[in-house]
Amino acid sequence: MDVVIDSDGREVVINPGLDWGSKLTLVSPTFRVLGVPDEGTFADAIVINKKYIYPKPAHLSYHEAAALPLAGLTAYRALMVRANLQKNDKVLISGIGGGVALFAMQFALALDCAVYVTSGSDDKIAKAISLGASGGYNYRDPEWTKKLQSDTSGVDVIVDSAAGAGFNQLIKVCNPGGRIVFYGGTHGKIDGLNPQPIFWKQISLLGSTMGSDTDFGNMLDFVSHHKIKPVIDTVYKLDNLHQGFEAMEAGLQFGKIVFDHQ
Ligand SMILES: NC(=O)c1ccc[n+]([C@@H]2O[C@H](COP(=O)([O-])OP(=O)(O)OC[C@H]3O[C@@H](n4cnc5c(N)ncnc54)[C@H](OP(=O)(O)O)[C@@H]3O)[C@@H](O)[C@H]2O)c1
Repeated sequence: MDVVIDSDGREVVINPGLDWGSKLTLVSPTFRVLGVPDEGTFADAIVINKKYIYPKPAHLSYHEAAALPLAGLTAYRALMVRANLQKNDKVLISGIGGGVALFAMQFALALDCAVYVTSGSDDKIAKAISLGASGGYNYRDPEWTKKLQSDTSGVDVIVDSAAGAGFNQLIKVCNPGGRIVFYGGTHGKIDGLNPQPIFWKQISLLGSTMGSDTDFGNMLDFVSHHKIKPVIDTVYKLDNLHQGFEAMEAGLQFGKIVFDHQ
C-alpha cells in the first residue's frame, strides 16, 4: 500500500514518481518509479525522501488512498495537463478495465464532461455506465466506431493505453482539433498509422508518463475537492500476494486490486 503514517503520526500517501526533476514538461534522466529498481511498497519498510510524502486526502480510507497514487497521477497528467481537458469536451476512455483508465473517467466526470468508454467486457461497460459514463462500446465489435460516431458525432479527447492496430480506430472517431493522449502500449506498435486524417483534422497525438511533483499535489487537491473515491475491486492480505496477481492476470477486475500489510 502506498499509504502510511509518518513519524509525526500523520496519515500520508507517497508520490511514486521519483526524481521527476525541475521541468514540468519532461522527466529528468534519473526519473524512476517507486519500486523500480528501488524497494517498493511490498517491503515491510522503505526509506524515502520526505519530499515524496503528502497528506492523505481526508475522505479516503487507507485502502482507497493506497489505490490512488500511481494510477491517479498518470490519469491526472494525461487528461488535465497533456490533453488540457475542458468542461464540455466529449471524452473517450479506452479499456475501462484498466486502473489508470478508470481514474481518467472519474476525473473527466468530475469536470462534467460526457464520457464514453470502450472495453472487451460488456459487464465492465455496464459498471462504467452505472458510475456515470454516457455510453460504452465493446472494442471486439467491428462496428463499434460507427456506433460511437452515430451516438456522439465524434469525441474531443481520447485517453488510451492499448495502442496497436486499434489506435487507427481512435483517429477515426476523434473530432477535428481533438487530442489523443496515450500512456501505455499494451498492443504494441501502431501498425498502419495513416497520417492524412491526423494532419487534416489537426489532431494532437500526446504521449504521457506518470506526472511531476506539482501534478501529484494538484491531483490530490482535485480528488479532495471533488471527493472522488477510487473504485476498489478486491483487497488482498499481503500473504495472499499470488492470489492477487493471478486475479490481475485474469483481467476480470473492475477497479484496483489492493494489497494490505496489516
Ligand atoms: N506511462 C505511465 O506512466 C504508465 C502508468 C501506468 C500504466 N502504464 C501502462 O499502461 C498500460 C495499462 O496499465 P493499467 O494498469 O492502467 O491497465 P491494466 O490493468 O494493465 O489493464 C490493461 C487494460 O487494457 C485494456 N485493453 C486490452 N485490449 C484493449 C484494446 N484493444 N483497446 C483498448 N483497451 C484494451 C483492458 O481493458 P478492458 O478490461 O476494459 O477490456 C485492460 O483492462 C500498461 O501497458 C502499463 O504498463 C503506463
